Amino acid sequence: MILKCIILIFLYSSSNGQLLETLGNSFLQTVNTITGEAISSVVRATSAGSMSSTRAVGRIGSFPTVRNHNNLVDTANFLPQFQAGLQNEDADLPIMALVKKYGYPIEEHLVTTEDGYILTLHRIKGNGSTLFLMHGLLGSSDDFVLAGPESSLAYFLANKGFDLWLGNARGNKHSRRHVSMTPSEGIFWDFSWHEIGYYDLPAMIDYTLDYTGEKTVKYIGHSQGTTAFFVMASERPEYNEKISLMIAMSPVAWMTHVKSPLAHFMAPSGPAIHAVSKAIGIYEFLPEDNFIKTLKTNICGVGAFADVICGNILFTLAGFDYAQLNVTNLPVIFGHIPSGSSVKQFAHYGQLVMSGDFRYYDNGPVRNIRKYGSEVPPSYRVDRITVPVCLFYSESDWLAQPEDVHTLYNKLPNVLDVYKVPYSKFNHIDFIWAKDIKRLIFRRLLFLINF
Ligand SMILES: *[C@@H]1O[C@H](CO)[C@@H](O)[C@H](O)[C@H]1NC(C)=O
Ligand SMILES: *[C@@H]1O[C@H](CO)[C@@H](O)[C@H](O)[C@H]1NC(C)=O
Repeated sequence: MILKCIILIFLYSSSNGQLLETLGNSFLQTVNTITGEAISSVVRATSAGSMSSTRAVGRIGSFPTVRNHNNLVDTANFLPQFQAGLQNEDADLPIMALVKKYGYPIEEHLVTTEDGYILTLHRIKGNGSTLFLMHGLLGSSDDFVLAGPESSLAYFLANKGFDLWLGNARGNKHSRRHVSMTPSEGIFWDFSWHEIGYYDLPAMIDYTLDYTGEKTVKYIGHSQGTTAFFVMASERPEYNEKISLMIAMSPVAWMTHVKSPLAHFMAPSGPAIHAVSKAIGIYEFLPEDNFIKTLKTNICGVGAFADVICGNILFTLAGFDYAQLNVTNLPVIFGHIPSGSSVKQFAHYGQLVMSGDFRYYDNGPVRNIRKYGSEVPPSYRVDRITVPVCLFYSESDWLAQPEDVHTLYNKLPNVLDVYKVPYSKFNHIDFIWAKDIKRLIFRRLLFLINF
């Protein structure tokens, strides 16, 4: 019997730690030989899915639901606007065709990392300075063109003449190749954003510099695109020389104050998530319908609106701000997102929530000693980041809360700008798709790039 790991993550998290007790302590030690029978007994033991999830939400009752008095939804207009968007062919156009449709020259480049992953870079060629854009968790290079011709960051910057390079992390839909492994093998998915920062970003940045003959790029990252940057610039400090400016939109490093209910679902599991998924041999994050359904009811409520919005895992994870949501554009976004990730990316973020530190992946004490020489994983040395960093954050961002951004700010040695979006409901995904993104984000961003 094959179960998608996410169900187990969910059952474990929502059982409030009881799953491991149910299994007995021997579970983690014998994880490599776990049988289908053991898994089904766990599922039987905790099979009241929605009940346990209600308990879990109750336990973290101080966390927000997607719809609340602060985030009023115009239910009467929602469906008609959404349905109008369903006719939009952009929902089905792959990025190459989509960008060409709007008249921009786009190229595809392939880059192989030191550890063998084959990544796709998309370039929108321009005569100006070189910018490197990096997407967030569950995203891809598509993210930067999905707001449509009027509001997409890539088009905005291309209109100004910049030479744009859009990265794609291993495991997303554009980067599912490796010199010797395939995505159907569990081992392909044995990475978190640590490896994205340590291997993928350096490979893509070196390629960009070689190809253009430039000495430096300016880096713009969203969410995980910032986390991976902080890993790279801490752990491979020579890359600080290759980047002249970093704009961090919704920077995620310290995560103690994270509000996302889904992030909290993931958090208690830590190494257990990884152990369980390893046992089953499925490392790709593939949320099950049942899992989404249960979460949806708890976080979004019921009805057509909840079905549409929280049917997409990114919105369930990050929440949204109705006032800035371009409902007509949702079908286009849904046509391209989620783009794929490993379970370990979630597990590593969950560990940050629990540990209150920004540090290496926790493999459990024994393996940590073997890998890192200490029982506790080492912290990332963000004090080694010499690139001038600009932090863009907002009050209502479920994943990058002001307190956590402040911690990061205190640890970074060279912060050039700290910009709090002057609109209190601005949320995580508004940084890429908000209706007023030009006024609230692009203006400041352009000023800093030209600074
Ligand atoms: C660079 O490109 C921009 C936008 O396409 C154009 O307006 C500008 O004239 C170009 N500059 C040069 C020096 O070619
Ligand atoms: C909202 O989405 C529609 C459909 O993609 C698009 O035509 C429109 O320009 C978007 N509005 C803004 C403000 O970007």
